[in-house]
Amino acid sequence: MILVTGGAGFIGANFVLDWLALNDEPVINLDKLTYAGNTESLQSLAQDARHTLVQGDIGDRVLVSSLLARHQPRAVVNFAAESHVDRSIHGPGEFIQTNIVGTFNLLESVRGYWQGLSEAPKEVFRFLHVSTDEVYGSLAKDDPAFTESNHLEPNSPYSASKAASDHLVRAWHHTYGLPVLTTNCSNNYGPYHFPEKLIPLMIVNALAGKLLPVYGDGLQIRDWLYVKDHCSAIRRVLEAGRLGETYNVGGWNEKANLEIVHTVCHLLDELRPRADGKPYQDQITSVTDRPGHDRRYAIDARKLERELGWKPLETFESGIRKTVQWYLDNPDWVAHVQSGAYRQWVQKQYHSGG
Ligand code: NAD
Ligand code: TYD
Repeated sequence: MILVTGGAGFIGANFVLDWLALNDEPVINLDKLTYAGNTESLQSLAQDARHTLVQGDIGDRVLVSSLLARHQPRAVVNFAAESHVDRSIHGPGEFIQTNIVGTFNLLESVRGYWQGLSEAPKEVFRFLHVSTDEVYGSLAKDDPAFTESNHLEPNSPYSASKAASDHLVRAWHHTYGLPVLTTNCSNNYGPYHFPEKLIPLMIVNALAGKLLPVYGDGLQIRDWLYVKDHCSAIRRVLEAGRLGETYNVGGWNEKANLEIVHTVCHLLDELRPRADGKPYQDQITSVTDRPGHDRRYAIDARKLERELGWKPLETFESGIRKTVQWYLDNPDWVAHVQSGAYRQWVQKQYHSGG
């Protein structure tokens, strides 16, 4: 079996669902169930004996050590993190706590477990750390895409905390021999994405007749990957990645934010036209820019393709259409995640000059 952390969040839930759709190897899913963790995303596994959800913190060494001792996983895949840049600007403390201190404690628990294994399971054990392209910093317009040899130059409290965790993972390999793998992926989108991030926020706001807030000039560039392609990359790295290596994951889909928002609007015009017949793009509004806003991210994923033969299956056009359709088909999931805590966040970020 494998232990997944943060498996009730956006990417983790997609990973767990895909994993169990593809094979029968059981998953222990350790998730703190913060505002970003949603058991509803895992509802289809509620009666499935192959999946066990444990509510807890990656930083809780007693809990993690006992889970490891009891279930003897052959791998740990670490998705657990605070993940939203804007929240990290309002309150960096939780990011330091989970992404840095939490990863440190998780590494120590895993090291203790791994060192106590007998030779055969010790040989095959893997710790896969899921990270982001944001650790590399920001690119100018004509800079080449990030490769694995770029320096880490994080600019936000979120990306700095992820970069710190990447460093810890690397050090636990070099110092203690822990068999680690790290993936640095570009921006994901797809089903179960919490509507605080750009694409799901635009879809749910558009449908609710609300404004579509574009930060600054809207010409910042992100490199978008459909979440299921990220999950397939993680499975491939887990299966065949070289120990201690970092693999960039991306699909060569650089888009300016305004282009993304217009694409979402056009798809909604087609799939769920406004009652008044007007285009959704009438709802677009420019708002104050994010402090320290990174201008451009772009991922060079050729190492993963060359060494492990991974390629994404979705184009941006096919993936974004599936995503918009998923939100149209799942209004209950959207309604339930827009709880009181969600409303407080929207008030703080978009209505208080923040
Ligand atoms: P998310 O915020 O949707 O989910 C994070 C999950 O971790 C939640 O279920 C939350 O409850 C859980 N969690 C938070 N703190 C925890 C703790 N201390 N102990 C246990 N569980 C905890 O995030 P996501 O978008 O699914 O991202 C998952 C991982 O992938 C993160 O490490 C993120 O840095 C990385 N990543 C995300 C993207 C992206 O575009 N979303 C891109 C590249 C990498
Ligand atoms: P986001 O989804 O928060 O991901 P990240 O900051 O980790 O890349 O934001 C994606 C881009 O969209 C980023 O440049 C900020 C911008 N953005 C907006 O313009 N408006 C919004 O309301 C949000 C949430 C993001």
